[in-house]
Amino acid sequence: MTVFESAFADDELADNKSRAVTINGQSVLICRAAGELYALENRCSHQEAELEGGRIRGCFISCPLHGVRFDLRDGSPMGQLTRVAVPTFEVRVVDGMIEVAVP
Ligand code: FES
Repeated sequence: MTVFESAFADDELADNKSRAVTINGQSVLICRAAGELYALENRCSHQEAELEGGRIRGCFISCPLHGVRFDLRDGSPMGQLTRVAVPTFEVRVVDGMIEVAVP
């Protein structure tokens, strides 16, 4: 069964911004890109930098450290530095609160 945990209010996250929260002991990055919400592990698959604050363009976030771009829809990387996807999580809004399903 998928269990969703509450993160923060939907109206606290502007478009093309990201914010990290700790859920079940895991740092999860919630992003709003072109109006859509996405959630992924807040850790780059290249050298484990936090992805929070990375530039968001379209449905991609760029790692602040070396600039690898990850597709927010499935965590897949672009370019040569890493071929490992960042895990993504289901995200939804219930009664104005963002909720994430983190295993
Ligand atoms: S640590 Fe993210 S691109 Fe290198």
